[in-house]
Amino acid sequence: MKFRNLVAALAATVALPFSAAHAVDLEVTHWWTSGGEAAAVKVMADAVNAAGINWVDGAIAGGSNARPIIISRITGGNPMGATQLNTGRDAEDLVKAGLMTDLTAIAEKEGWKDFIRPAKLLDACTYEGKIYCVPVNIHSFQWMWLNRGVYESNGLKVPSNWNEFVEEAPKLKEKGVIPLAVGGEPWQLLGMANVFLVALNDADFYKKINVDKDAEAAAGPQMKKVFDAMAAARNFVDDGTVGRSWNDAANMVITGKAGAQIMGDWAQGEFQVAGQTAGKEYDCLPGLGLNPVLDTGGDAFYFPRPKDDNPDVVDAQLKMASLLVSKDLQVAFNLKKGSLPIRGDIDMSAANACMQKGIKILDDPANILPATEQAFSSDTQGQLEDLWVEFFNNPDMSVEEGQERFVEIIEAAN
Ligand code: GAL
Repeated sequence: MKFRNLVAALAATVALPFSAAHAVDLEVTHWWTSGGEAAAVKVMADAVNAAGINWVDGAIAGGSNARPIIISRITGGNPMGATQLNTGRDAEDLVKAGLMTDLTAIAEKEGWKDFIRPAKLLDACTYEGKIYCVPVNIHSFQWMWLNRGVYESNGLKVPSNWNEFVEEAPKLKEKGVIPLAVGGEPWQLLGMANVFLVALNDADFYKKINVDKDAEAAAGPQMKKVFDAMAAARNFVDDGTVGRSWNDAANMVITGKAGAQIMGDWAQGEFQVAGQTAGKEYDCLPGLGLNPVLDTGGDAFYFPRPKDDNPDVVDAQLKMASLLVSKDLQVAFNLKKGSLPIRGDIDMSAANACMQKGIKILDDPANILPATEQAFSSDTQGQLEDLWVEFFNNPDMSVEEGQERFVEIIEAAN
């Protein structure tokens, strides 16, 4: 379907009674500023504009930077019309304070709970039985991205899992290629550690740590494997890691400066914008090729209550919420974002080979894990990020010392 037809179709799918005769401005904040993210957010903005709402873009680069700005604007009485945040506990206090528009009526009218899967995505938006956000995608950190050509042109086997990657890494280094592209931002290092947590163990262990907050498990041999892997990864990176953005690290793989990156599947958007094809120029290993499960994090949109509860703005917010879960937008947006849709009743045959792997994994509920941002408070997440930054950047910090610190954080986790 030609894009302009799609946008027109999207506009036609949302027919709700709205009092606004003129296009209502909705300032929309988000942190989707990389090439791939911008391509995806344009799909969303075009559809919202076509539905008669004026999308006023409020992009703020970097999730760790954007989150506090978004939250302080809402608590400070200067709310935006809509905002992206992670599907998790980011907005927990804002919802409890009654600062978010209640979406329950439209969610029930459209039967969101009948088609949004996994159901816990909507649970993460629900407080005291009411719904305050709309999940728009499923992103998982549990992926490794490889530049096939870097291995093939150096006469090396393209790794099919983490262990083979480790084996080939020294040979890549000898050829002048950085084995592992890492962005040293805190959330990226925490994300990588959480990938090892399940890939080198299993889903039960992941849940013991990230759901049960089991300090005994945190002190055990399975967690030591995670620290050992992060210590090994320290030897596969370049000196430019500290502070590098995730998309700059992805670009190192795309351009062949590095062999691989462990990163969420939003990285796919960068490969797509670079004109690369899954299975041809790049490969993807869910669960590092060892344990193909996916954590189901991702993004949701919240709609802060407008000043004076302006009914025109609330109408526009509800119309946008309805659009974001519509079938056409779910296909068009997720194909660009490299994420998986929040509904299973749509045709994703256009998805690339890597997304198809993800969709297949999602079909079995046993392969689905909660994202850590749905388990830990922002405060605990911050402590874990600080620990991994210190461990990854300080080779003098032993595995034993790191694990002791980890146990303390898990014991106090909330
Ligand atoms: C995540 C978000 C993704 C992507 C990523 C990198 O938190 O869910 O959509 O934006 O950050 O910026």
